[in-house]
Amino acid sequence: MVPQTFTFQVPTDVVFGPGSLARLPEVVAPFGERLLVVSDPGIAAAGILEKVAAQVQATGRRTEIVADVEPNPSVETVERATEAYRRSGAQWILAVGGGSAMDVGKAVALLAVHPGRIGAYEGVGKVPGPTAPLVCVPTTAGTGSEVTIFSVITDRQRKFKMPIGSSHLLPRAAVCDPDLTVSMPQALTAATGMDALTHAVECYTNTTYHPIAKALALDAIRLIGRNLRRAYANGRDLDARAQMLLASTMAAMAFTRTRLGNVHAMSHPVGAHFDVPHGLANALLLPYVMDWNLPGCLETFPAVAAALGEAPDGLPPRGAAAVAVDAVRQLNRDLGIPERLRDVGVTLESLPVLAQDAMKSGNVLVNPRATTYEEMRALFERAW
Ligand SMILES: [Fe+2]
Repeated sequence: MVPQTFTFQVPTDVVFGPGSLARLPEVVAPFGERLLVVSDPGIAAAGILEKVAAQVQATGRRTEIVADVEPNPSVETVERATEAYRRSGAQWILAVGGGSAMDVGKAVALLAVHPGRIGAYEGVGKVPGPTAPLVCVPTTAGTGSEVTIFSVITDRQRKFKMPIGSSHLLPRAAVCDPDLTVSMPQALTAATGMDALTHAVECYTNTTYHPIAKALALDAIRLIGRNLRRAYANGRDLDARAQMLLASTMAAMAFTRTRLGNVHAMSHPVGAHFDVPHGLANALLLPYVMDWNLPGCLETFPAVAAALGEAPDGLPPRGAAAVAVDAVRQLNRDLGIPERLRDVGVTLESLPVLAQDAMKSGNVLVNPRATTYEEMRALFERAW
């Protein structure tokens, strides 16, 4: 790639490592006495919410808890949580969970300071100024939302996932403790891990010039190649869990600067129309999109294949690139990911609308192969 201008900031303070939850009291020290905790029912049932909240309550702070965030969280959930924030007199937000809880945390942080409904801020760069402080404690190894500028909220009326991107949405701090990811069920480990891989592959191969992000992305691919099967096979493997959490945070630090590609453009309408969890939709779509992108990835896919532990050396460029596509397809099989969109409830009649919505995504513009509406529809048909 021809060198171009780029910028790089890592404004979120990240504390990483097994047992790092014990450092939450010092992380929250700069923030006010009252806070809203945002989480989801799975995290509450696993006892993680209680454990994290106890760390903050031990500092004398008063917590209001909203623990009913759903997958593909809605505008209504954001409004309810914002109402709880105002009612309780909270001064900042602590999000505990996967992408859904953290994305709702970001949206509440926004509405706590700026007027109107969340839909008014859809797009990139629409948030006019600082938001309420947000601290994130991720419990999955996939989304990386703890270090990104994005919140994705679903408008159920329009059946549309709205990306809201602004540097004002970056969390102030994140405590990334792999111990908290150990109780993730197998299917969630697979889907969230493949979300992280999709972030890394789309970032590494897209057309954005950003050598620092690309280096982070390639190393995230390497970590995922070595550890995702291990974490899936044995959730108690703390080393594999730690490497996966590291990979998801690195991949997100990377893609938040480069955007992604067609997989995310396509998975958002699939989630909005059929409520398919984000990671699962990405996992399923990734090999189809990579196969389509291959002519634009003759230089990058061989490196992806090598990072995934394959040996493409000595093959001609096309063959070496194809090894990456096969490696991802095989990884999906090993993780029990369904192979076709119809297997997760997507209907044939919906594909033209899904393709239309996918074309609205800014991610299409940086995909390594330029894509027309007709080609997008054909991609959906192939994956169906
Ligand atoms: Fe994602």
